[in-house]
Amino acid sequence: MTKLNRTQSLFFQPSVESDLRAFIERSLNVALDFLNPQKENKLHSDLSLLELEEIFNEVEIPMHGLGVEQTLQLAVERVVKHSVHVSDPHYIGHMTGATPYFHMGLELLLAALNQNVVKIETALAGSFVEGQLLAWIHRLIYGRNSDFYKARMHKPDLCFGNVTSGGTMGNLTALAVARNKRIPRCRDWGLMEALERMGKRKVGIYASKRVHYSIRKAASVLGFGTQSVYEIPVHPFSNQIDLSALERTLSQHQAQGILPLVIVGVGGSTETGSTDDLNALAAIAQRVGAWFHVDAAWGGPLLICDEGKKLLSGIECADSVVVDGHKLFFVPMTHGMVLFKDESALDVLRHNARYIIRAGSVDLGRTSLEGSRRFDSFKLWFALWALGSKSYGQLMQHSLALGRAFEKLIHSSSCFELTSHVSSNIVTWRYVPPAWKDKLTALRQSTNEQKDGIVRTPTLHQVTTLLNELTVEIQKIQRQRGRTFVSRTTLESVIPGFDTVVFRAVLFHPLTSEQTLSEVLSEQKNIGESVLERLWPKFESQLNDWEKPL
Ligand SMILES: Cc1ncc(COP(=O)(O)O)c(C=O)c1O
Repeated sequence: MTKLNRTQSLFFQPSVESDLRAFIERSLNVALDFLNPQKENKLHSDLSLLELEEIFNEVEIPMHGLGVEQTLQLAVERVVKHSVHVSDPHYIGHMTGATPYFHMGLELLLAALNQNVVKIETALAGSFVEGQLLAWIHRLIYGRNSDFYKARMHKPDLCFGNVTSGGTMGNLTALAVARNKRIPRCRDWGLMEALERMGKRKVGIYASKRVHYSIRKAASVLGFGTQSVYEIPVHPFSNQIDLSALERTLSQHQAQGILPLVIVGVGGSTETGSTDDLNALAAIAQRVGAWFHVDAAWGGPLLICDEGKKLLSGIECADSVVVDGHKLFFVPMTHGMVLFKDESALDVLRHNARYIIRAGSVDLGRTSLEGSRRFDSFKLWFALWALGSKSYGQLMQHSLALGRAFEKLIHSSSCFELTSHVSSNIVTWRYVPPAWKDKLTALRQSTNEQKDGIVRTPTLHQVTTLLNELTVEIQKIQRQRGRTFVSRTTLESVIPGFDTVVFRAVLFHPLTSEQTLSEVLSEQKNIGESVLERLWPKFESQLNDWEKPL
């Protein structure tokens, strides 16, 4: 065989079927080995970032390929071995996790089909799958009747939304539509001129401090600047937007001539799982003439169960909503969606070209910001057919029940304290040595300074700083040990005026149980005691009469 022939034989033709089958089987074995729960794998590789850099240090494309088999070996050694075990039930730190096993097969099918959903000429049935999926999710949010969807689902001039690569692109699309809707001719004249002709210089995008950073990203990409995002304080503990603070900001801005462009409600915040009062935000948005967007990238799928519907009450008033498939819908990376209440809202982004997405076509690229796109909607569409809303509802109930169970465990433990209200399936907490708990409560109540002009130590600031250090150390060691994993974040809403470092658990793995959560806490307790022992000399000097807790 000539070299070209050998390379050509990598492209499918019936004669390579046995090679393909063999390669798929080997890849499947690698996957099964990676996922094998018996293997006692650490959740994270032991290699440091510097050591990983060393593994990937060749600076030139290899001139001669290694061939498929040897490259698979190389990939196992260099990549698979050092990948994160995000689908382990003890990995409860982030929104990336386990997926139903059939998705592995679907990825194979997707690669074989290799549809490009930008246009119907490269994705025939795929275009209709996406239309149907968007109608299903639209109905979950807006609840119109069957006739409504039947009449509109696949119409070239209508569109319920876009499938996107994730929440970030969804938020960007929603804000782009809001911009083009609320600022006349912005699309043609550009932002500066369009605003000038409205007699405005600045716009305001209003969201709580819990909003995802992709809203700031969208504001900067769309020409508003990150400073146009006004982050409104949240209520301590509940983490819901402070509506009075929002009203105050809006009336100040009205006096200053700032255009209230968008109000963003959070439907399941990234850090604490909190949901804003969406009904109240909708009413305010309507009153001031702002677009109302709900970022439900995390919480959206909860709508499939009754409890979730209650949590997200008011979402149906939103002009646009973002829901991710690759989070609570258990779809593998990547899959997101942005939906619009008005099925012609996306007209303001509609574009045509001469060779595709011609006027009147049903090409999905007609309203998307992205161009060529994978047929990712297939994954959620298949999963919804396979599980149905009932089983998905049970998975959502399970995740909410995990949130409640974890809340109880933390409450009943002597050395942890909750740092935010558990309204759904994300929990934050921190380690507080039992002997300090009462003292800390007293310190919080007393503000501890001043009464007689004397500043008593330790101050709340000092204790918070020490506890922050303790939390950071515990989380790092827990990750290094690799048996359980939680993430951490910093909240300003735990003790007003202080930034508090907290652990964060994202509870949605269907195989995570109360037992798993107990294991997480008992490991943290154990680590906490040893870290405290190590840091004690430093702590002691600042704690005055607070005794060593162990
Ligand atoms: C509430 C919320 N919105 C948006 C995003 C961004 O989503 P993605 O990472 O899929 O772009 C996230 C991600 O965690 C999120 O939690």
